[in-house]
Amino acid sequence: MVEFAPSILSADFSNLKEEVARVKEANYLHLDVMDGMFVPNITIGPGIIKSIRKHTDLKFDTHLMIEEPERYIKDFAEAGSDIITVHCEATKHLHRLIYQIKDQGCLAGVALNPATSLTRIEHVLKDLDLVLIMSVNPGFGGQKLIPETLNKIKTIKQKIRELNLSIKVEIDGGINNSNVKDVSRTGVDIIVAGSAIFGQPDPGKALSELKERVIS
Ligand code: DX5
Ligand code: ZN
Repeated sequence: MVEFAPSILSADFSNLKEEVARVKEANYLHLDVMDGMFVPNITIGPGIIKSIRKHTDLKFDTHLMIEEPERYIKDFAEAGSDIITVHCEATKHLHRLIYQIKDQGCLAGVALNPATSLTRIEHVLKDLDLVLIMSVNPGFGGQKLIPETLNKIKTIKQKIRELNLSIKVEIDGGINNSNVKDVSRTGVDIIVAGSAIFGQPDPGKALSELKERVIS
């Protein structure tokens, strides 16, 4: 069964408590952290995540789009993250970083930009809980999905099956009502959606419409 992770990037930041309550039927809450260096945008930090933590039981899927994420793993773990995902392009010591995340009691994810090859994570695959395939260049909500990235999902899913590993594969960026069916056909486990949920007048309804369209 495909799971959904609404991204609060497109939510009303002045009203996060109510916004989060609107997607309680989701599986995760996707939290986009941007530092204005790894990506050309700045968003939230551990303080905001800690504040939202009090208002929902959803699992927190924290997506760090920051340089040298090793500096902040403890902070994001203590803020209440369940999964912490780092970009392989943002660190020099990926293997060490993954174990830093696990040592904090969180599940460890690695994200790949559209231009990054899957070979970059081969050496850490068996250490991972999640692989996040970016289907847009990270930094902003509301961008168009790059269709070529869907092949990466099929390839990594097959590799995971061959190695008999239990790693979830997540897709992030540009997913909407028109393409969610094709996206789900790739075998992806978790779908992130920002503008297709929080950009809509009724986010709860938008989420259930997306769910209805997926092939499980
Ligand atoms: C983009 C972020 C995404 C973003 C997705 O850099 O990582 O999580 O919120 O937004 P949509 O679904 O609008 O493309
Ligand atoms: Zn994200």
